Order: sequence, then C-alpha cells, then structure tokens
Amino acid sequence: MSLLLPKIGTETKYLPIYLESLRVDTILNFDLYIKISGEMVLYRSADLPFTERTRQKLLDNKVSRLYVNSKAKAKYQKYIEQNLDKILLDKEIPEEKKAGILYETSKSLMKDVLENPQYGENIQRSKTMVENQVGFILRGQEAFHSLLRISSFDYYTYTNSVNVCTFAIALAQQLGRKDEQYLHDLGIGALLHDVGKSKISERILNKRTALSPMEFEIMKKHPKWGVEILTSTDMIEAASYYPVLQHHERGSKSGYPNGLGLDEMHEFSRIVAVVDTFDAMTTQRVYQGAMETFPALKVMFALKGDYDEEMLRAFAELMGPTGLASI
Ligand SMILES: [Fe+2]
Ligand SMILES: [Fe+2]
Repeated sequence: MSLLLPKIGTETKYLPIYLESLRVDTILNFDLYIKISGEMVLYRSADLPFTERTRQKLLDNKVSRLYVNSKAKAKYQKYIEQNLDKILLDKEIPEEKKAGILYETSKSLMKDVLENPQYGENIQRSKTMVENQVGFILRGQEAFHSLLRISSFDYYTYTNSVNVCTFAIALAQQLGRKDEQYLHDLGIGALLHDVGKSKISERILNKRTALSPMEFEIMKKHPKWGVEILTSTDMIEAASYYPVLQHHERGSKSGYPNGLGLDEMHEFSRIVAVVDTFDAMTTQRVYQGAMETFPALKVMFALKGDYDEEMLRAFAELMGPTGLASI
C-alpha cells in the first residue's frame, strides 16, 4: 500500500531560461527541456552541441522559454557566466533581454557569494561579473534604465547587493567618472558591501520588528566582518575595501562603525551610502512597504548633510530628468 503514497518533496523542479542566453556551437553541459501541454519534455541532451539548426527550429516553433533541471543549476550558471560578455555584445539580442540575463546571473552569483564568501573563486567570479556590469552600463543610459526596470523590489541581501552595484556604477558615471579601473574598483566594493552579513543569522536579518539593542550591536558589526572576510581572500584592490567598511557612515557622524563625517569618507563610500539607502527605501521589506523613487530621494535630501548633496543631485538626475524639479 505504501507504494501508492505520493513522494513528497522528490518531484523535479525546472528553471526557466531564455533562449537568447544559449550560444550557438557550444556544448551546454546540461539537458534542455521544453514544456509541451504542461509536461516537461527533454529537448536536447547535455552532450549534444547547441547548433544554429537547433536554435532556428525553436524560433520557428515560437519556443522562447526553455527549462533546465534545477539540479543542473550550477552548470547553467557557470555556462552563462563564461559566455556573458558575448551575450551582452550580441546585436541580435534586445537590450531588455540582456538586462534580464545580466540581472538574474548576478543575483544567482551573489547568493553563492553570500553562502561562501571566503571561497576565492566566488570573489573572482564577482570581479568578472562587475566587468560585465561596467561594460553594459557604460554603453549608455538606456542600458541602465532597462536594468532599473527589471530590478527586483524585494529586499534580500543578494538583491540589494546587485542593485547597489548597478546604481553605484551608474551614479559614478553620471558624476563624470569614466575611468574603467575606477568603475571596476567601485563596482566590486559595491557588490560586496554587505558580505559581512553572511555572518549574521537569518532571524536577525529578516526580523519583522525593530531590532533589540543587542541585535543592533550585532548588525553594526557587518561592515568590519565584511572587511575581515575580504582580507582573508586578498583578491580585491585596497580602494574597494572603503565602501565595505564605510557605507553606514553618515555626514551627521551618527553612522557606524566609526562615526565619520562626509569629508572623512572615501568617495566610493559616499556613493554607496547614497545608493544603498535609496535601495533600502524603495524596496519591499517584510515590515515596510516600498517608497517611490522621488519621495525617497526627497527624504534623503531632507536629512541635511547625511549624504553628499552633489551625489544626491546627480542620482536624482539619473533616475529621470523631470524628477529633480519635484524635490
Ligand atoms: Fe550594510
Ligand atoms: Fe546594503
């Protein structure tokens, strides 16, 4: 009789992927599935190359959604990361799709980083991802705005990390910083700014009510913990440590861990402080609804001196030319 019982929790899950993310003439290393009448059907097995013919057949049949077995997720992620530069330069792929692929890949990478931040390969993968982000954003405001449109409004450490990285690079560019090395060093510091949160329990990170004084003391340690983690891998430039350590410092000297003023903060830290606060205010939390872009910026302007005014102004301009007037 027990044979008839349904197997709870053993059903296979599938991950939807974009057809555009697959490069012609590459071995995919993972099986591809398509959905036919609600059923998952194996379309192409891992060892066969993905050819132009395969791609064309799918396009002819108007199949744009493919699926990967969730057990093969790591292999798919690796494949995409290795091909991301080519995907982002492909003229055949619409910008919106590129932004989607870049954003999803960055989020998955950041989940891996937060699970294993001391693992050098994860930091190396983050650096490559930042190069791709910088390249994409430098190609124009349209690229940034397509990223903005698809960015997630749920607040998790990994989405905040990716959003802060995107916003920081775009804001620096808006401020006239065009040097690629500068943007890479800023981008990696921005992406990893909260890596110290990997040491804090989910219970504290996702708490619905205000933190107790003791919990807040633990929370305040994440900038220093982030620096410790990154020091142990020793893979990023010295300047990239500043936003990790200083992103919760405020101009009124009420921030942590060192109560610095704006003039004592590194430029990277002032940028990340602006965009991290903005992202926290405009995303949905368990205990608080999301604010709209310009009301959030208005609140930040009103906190006189906490944030660099020139940066706030440039950020408002970046979010929309008409928005600045409403502040
Ligand atoms: Fe933080
Ligand atoms: Fe953050």
